[in-house]
Amino acid sequence: MNENLLAEIGLDKKMDESRQGEAFYSPVINPNAGSRKFYIESYGCAMNFNDSEIVASILHSSGFRATGNSEEADLILINTCSIREKAELTVRKRLTEFRKQKRSKPEMLVGILGCMAERLKSKLLEEEKLVDMVVGPDAYRDLPFLIETADGGQKAVNVLLSRDETYADINPVRLDSNGVSAFISITRGCDNMCSFCVVPFTRGRERSRDPHSIVNEAQELFDSGYREVTLLGQNVDSYLWFGGGLKKEFDKATDEQKKNAVNFANLLELVARVHPDLRIRFSTSHPKDITDEVLQTIARFENICDHIHLPVQSGSSSVLERMNRTYDREWYLNRVDAIKTIIPDCGISADIISGFCGETEEEHQETLSIMEIVRFDFAYMFTYSERPGTLAEKKYQDDVPDEMKQKRLHEIITLERIHSHDSNRLDVGKTYKVLVERSSTKSKDEMCGRNSQNKMVVFANRNCKPGDYVNVKITSCTSGTLLGEIL
Ligand code: SAH
Ligand code: SF4
Ligand code: F3S
Repeated sequence: MNENLLAEIGLDKKMDESRQGEAFYSPVINPNAGSRKFYIESYGCAMNFNDSEIVASILHSSGFRATGNSEEADLILINTCSIREKAELTVRKRLTEFRKQKRSKPEMLVGILGCMAERLKSKLLEEEKLVDMVVGPDAYRDLPFLIETADGGQKAVNVLLSRDETYADINPVRLDSNGVSAFISITRGCDNMCSFCVVPFTRGRERSRDPHSIVNEAQELFDSGYREVTLLGQNVDSYLWFGGGLKKEFDKATDEQKKNAVNFANLLELVARVHPDLRIRFSTSHPKDITDEVLQTIARFENICDHIHLPVQSGSSSVLERMNRTYDREWYLNRVDAIKTIIPDCGISADIISGFCGETEEEHQETLSIMEIVRFDFAYMFTYSERPGTLAEKKYQDDVPDEMKQKRLHEIITLERIHSHDSNRLDVGKTYKVLVERSSTKSKDEMCGRNSQNKMVVFANRNCKPGDYVNVKITSCTSGTLLGEIL
């Protein structure tokens, strides 16, 4: 990293100076705005939710106002996910619910955004007659024009993927925000080709966002009271800024560009230096790319949270090879060892898929055994869902029967619950610094927030408010939550 970058980015100066030259797309509502209202519903990953906040910003600037009530909307947008078949079925069902509304209000527009829009393109218009617009994830700047087209009675489609769009200059309008934590996207797209995964097809090539704009956004969030940012990318460890361009073009960069390049460890440090009271989280880490330099940076900064989401997918090297994950069981375990050595108290969570193509009982047992070794604090667990166009669909048979996928998933979930409960029990008696997020769902007299390891902690409210840091002594737990008292 360029040693002058901190100075260049303004982190060594007073805040006011550092904000000079900032070029954020202003989310200020257009004073000449008409009374048209948009309603947006989001599915899928955090990146997709963050995209909806970018969309909200673009729409605000072109005169729309947001509403949380779909019934009063003039424009209904569904930001969709294609990761598993079920995600798409949910959206199809939602569309049938909007059909009635469209019948009684024909001038209302319905737009499909995100991954399903990209995957199905104009085919969606044929399949879902009420849809007026189909807009892929790199085409949101075109929304005002597309809306105009649809207003004129024509169907509007833009599903072009871009090699450089990162929406770096757009300041997202935080939707459904608790005012404490916010997402910041740092990369778009994915250059991995995991054989089960649709994302490279729906999100395009991997690009990294200018670190200046990332740090500015973090600073702006801190100034408006936020205390936690989560840096988002399909593979954050492969973040690499060398002045723009696709990640795969780094080899062709000049010596100067290479010398000044900012990798993920450098970026973490830059954001951590915004303010010691701003917590940094990040997701998702990739076992093949997470470096010791990243782990050492996490260990060096108290405000970079000690939690790594490191999807394993399977514990079997032969399945990992069919999945094209480019690491094997030993490599994964080596990364876990490195995490435990460099950041001893680090929380580790994972994603796991049951019943991938050709998975034998033996291979499934290897997933259970890697879980026994790592003892994840938490996991997201899925049965394999074949996605059209992916490598796995072309190359392998989806031959594990549904009941078998479910049975294996059940075994994985049962083991995960035991491990997360055990991990929580080990925390009883310890004291953690917790960032207060909100009142607990069960009682107004209780508040909740997370510790650095990303575990939810519930405690009686003693005059604390969202955004405060409190020290909580853990007194008991369930498999999903720690319970404690403010010291
Ligand atoms: N970029 C992240 C994952 C993004 S998708 C990574 O590489 O880890 C989130 C999770 O969905 C994946 O980790 C995987 O466990 C799951 N997933 C992706 N495609 C799937 C499919 N076809 N069937 C079932 N689960 C899938
Ligand atoms: Fe999909 Fe693999 Fe990319 Fe994750 S790393 S988004 S699983 S292709
Ligand atoms: Fe889904 Fe697209 Fe995210 S497929 S998981 S919304 S990148």
